[in-house]
Amino acid sequence: MNKDIAEILVTEEEVREICSRIAGEISRDYENSQKKLLLLCILKGSVVFMGELMKKINLPVEIDFMKVASYGKSTSTSGNINILLDLHRGDMEDIDIIIVEDIIDSGKTLSHLTEYLKLKGAHSVRTCTLLDKPSRREVEFTPDYTGKIIPDKFVVGFGLDYDEMYRALPYVGVLKPEVYGGK
Ligand code: IMP
Ligand code: MG
Repeated sequence: MNKDIAEILVTEEEVREICSRIAGEISRDYENSQKKLLLLCILKGSVVFMGELMKKINLPVEIDFMKVASYGKSTSTSGNINILLDLHRGDMEDIDIIIVEDIIDSGKTLSHLTEYLKLKGAHSVRTCTLLDKPSRREVEFTPDYTGKIIPDKFVVGFGLDYDEMYRALPYVGVLKPEVYGGK
């Protein structure tokens, strides 16, 4: 285990099980859809989850990427979102979008993005998250597909970072507070 990790919250095996389960749910839910299914990865944290998930969906899927910045300290989010990389498509009314996110904290990023993509004219917009910290919500938001509900602890790995580090860890772990100057 990495020396900066206090405890593993989601093991490699559990992450694989989560991806298989959610891919199964998505495959069933969109089986009879007449629209194109677009998995929309939110850079950068969701890249690893997206890569694992998309391989397991038994339907034709398209993929795309958006990048969103939230201002604030590295271990908390301020709630102001800023779109750094947008989605540009001429066929919004023909796509069912599933936003793929690494973790939901305040809920602001996904609630803003969902509204934004609906306003842009998507046929439908749903959300999928690997991790959820519901105790941190500042706006009411419930994802359509949830990997695992976790306590209010700052986690890294499987795409999630602290100051751009630890994304490549194959599991999700709690960062030792002394690493980010916490107690
Ligand atoms: P929200 O808008 O507050 O829901 O912010 C969600 C975003 O905050 C995620 O996409 C992450 O980038 C970041 N975030 C929230 N909690 C954590 C964490 O425990 N580890 C790493 N990033 C986190
Ligand atoms: Mg993120």
